[in-house]
Amino acid sequence: MDSIHIRGGNRLTGDIPISGAKNAALPLMTAALLTDETVKFHNMPQLTDVQTLGKLLNVLGAELEPEIAGHSYTLSITTPDIVSTTAPYEIVSRIRASFWVLGPLLARCGKARVSLPGGCAIGARPVDLYIKGLQKMGAQIDLVDGYVVAAAPDGLKGALIRSPVVSVGATHTLLMAATLAEGETILENAAREPEVTDVANCLVSMGAKIDGIGTSTLRIQGVDRLHGTTHHVVADRIEAGTYAIAAAMTGGDVTLKNADASTFEAALVAMRAAGVEVESRQGEVRVARNGTRLQATDVVTQVFPGFPTDLQAQFMALMTTAEGESEITETIFENRFMHVQELARFGADISLHGDKALVHGVEKLKGAPVMASDLRASAALIIAGLAAEGETVINRVYHLDRGFERIEEKLGACGAEIWREKAS
Ligand code: UD1
Repeated sequence: MDSIHIRGGNRLTGDIPISGAKNAALPLMTAALLTDETVKFHNMPQLTDVQTLGKLLNVLGAELEPEIAGHSYTLSITTPDIVSTTAPYEIVSRIRASFWVLGPLLARCGKARVSLPGGCAIGARPVDLYIKGLQKMGAQIDLVDGYVVAAAPDGLKGALIRSPVVSVGATHTLLMAATLAEGETILENAAREPEVTDVANCLVSMGAKIDGIGTSTLRIQGVDRLHGTTHHVVADRIEAGTYAIAAAMTGGDVTLKNADASTFEAALVAMRAAGVEVESRQGEVRVARNGTRLQATDVVTQVFPGFPTDLQAQFMALMTTAEGESEITETIFENRFMHVQELARFGADISLHGDKALVHGVEKLKGAPVMASDLRASAALIIAGLAAEGETVINRVYHLDRGFERIEEKLGACGAEIWREKAS
């Protein structure tokens, strides 16, 4: 398996272009199944998760036409007919978002058989909210041999669905299902992450009727059919936040291009509190730290617009060399601290107390061989390696390739000494 090597200690300086958001691209691709016309996505990220989901869409009957020119990636998806309503274990177990085809398949065909999902091992990650929501819309759902088998032979019906927990995936799924349901669906306590907003906006441009976009109550009037559209994928706020933290960690000065500060404001606020200089302008964010030591800062992960769980590991890496003790509380996923033991290999001083990690800042980190445990945790190891003395080797980097486009190239262009060694 490939490994990433970093010789730490270089300040990052320069510009980093931010790609389209993985967490928007994936549900957008599943939304394309709702119509027999072509849906064209600009600003797609070039990631293995996108390829994996593409394979599943192919199996279901979609034709994918990628156009790649340099770093720009446009993907057209046309699904004249759904040829299979089964999403097999072999694919769904590799990428959680592929479970989200459940909504479009059920809405368009009245039936679906979708394997229970996989994805990053960061907690139990149940699917009860998806199931209860679709049942409220009149679907009959059974669990058979590890598959969710859903049927709505007379079509889905609008319903009032109040979720006890804010779930991004359940919101995507129920929103897509509701676009073609009969009558009105109201999703209360819906997720309002920027990626949900992006999907909702795309659905509207496909002819869906949705009110309350960007709020926690979505009202959807079902329509008979959706049509094709062209859509520009929103910028990746997690990628932007990761590079912002990397710049701060190395005492660098980096401008994130095509980034939207309003989508990761909570992370920028925490960075400012830690002593990082942050300047946001139209479409770009500059992050700098010159000489001064970082100050310990507490964060609590929350649903949007709170501090994102997908930046928790990276922020923890940042706090490992801050002055004082920071408390990092994870409220979204119960098991999202697998990076703690890997950060300890760099000499970080972190103790775990239930849903809290206490990070005692040390003077400096030392490079080490480490193992990537999940996608965002891998980014935390890169951040630590960039600032650590000596060489770091990160194994199991396939996690990174799932969610970060050209990471070595983007960091290398800003002065990082980072390279990949291919497995022989
Ligand atoms: C998505 C993101 C992931 C991010 C997460 C939270 C993608 C591809 N993934 O994951 O990067 O970390 O949002 O922002 O967009 N839950 C239930 N029952 C359910 C569904 C969820 O209890 O049926 C719980 C989960 O266990 C978790 C919480 O709800 O504790 C939030 O999870 P959710 O928002 O659903 O995460 P994902 O959509 O899987």
